Amino acid sequence: MIQDYQDYLDEVLISKDALQARIRELGEEISRDYKEQDLLLICILRGGVMFLTDLMRAITIPHNIDFMAVSSYGVGARRSKGNVQIKLDLTAPIEDRNVLIVEDIIDSGHTIASVINFLMTRRPKSLRVCTLLDKAERREADVPIDYRGFTIPNKFVFGYGLDLDEYFRDLPFIGVVRADKIISED
Ligand code: IMP
Ligand code: MG
Repeated sequence: MIQDYQDYLDEVLISKDALQARIRELGEEISRDYKEQDLLLICILRGGVMFLTDLMRAITIPHNIDFMAVSSYGVGARRSKGNVQIKLDLTAPIEDRNVLIVEDIIDSGHTIASVINFLMTRRPKSLRVCTLLDKAERREADVPIDYRGFTIPNKFVFGYGLDLDEYFRDLPFIGVVRADKIISED
């Protein structure tokens, strides 16, 4: 049975206030960059949901949202292998649209690289990436990041959309998981 989040928490890495302040800045930057242009935010379920909803409220220009889901590793596993599958497709075409992908975290980069390849086949007008967290030292695939919330160390984190075996996405901060609670490394 899953326990209280405090039993899994080593330390708070990014506080609620720090997250909200940075997201307001990102929203302002995006609003400036896409001023008087079309903008479609594509959220990758499920980790990106908290970030999307706060980012939307920080963006001051008209925009649309859509969602997609891709396969990630299963419960207990901590690494993606680069064999990503589309589990849920977008609801509308993106041809000739300015697409901004909204992700919770870029780790190896395989997930986002696959999503970019997939979306490019549909000929968007532009395609950029906005990630809340960048675990830069772990990068294996070369991916362009246009908007980045925070660069973080190579530690397994949870909260604010990111799960620990599907729990604790609701936490308003980003926490580091205690080393003794990480089940497996594959
Ligand atoms: P990548 O393909 O290795 O870049 O992995 C990206 C996905 O792995 C993210 O969208 C997350 O769902 C998941 N992930 C990577 N690192 C973490 C973490 O520290 N905590 C929770 N999920 C993570
Ligand atoms: Mg994700």
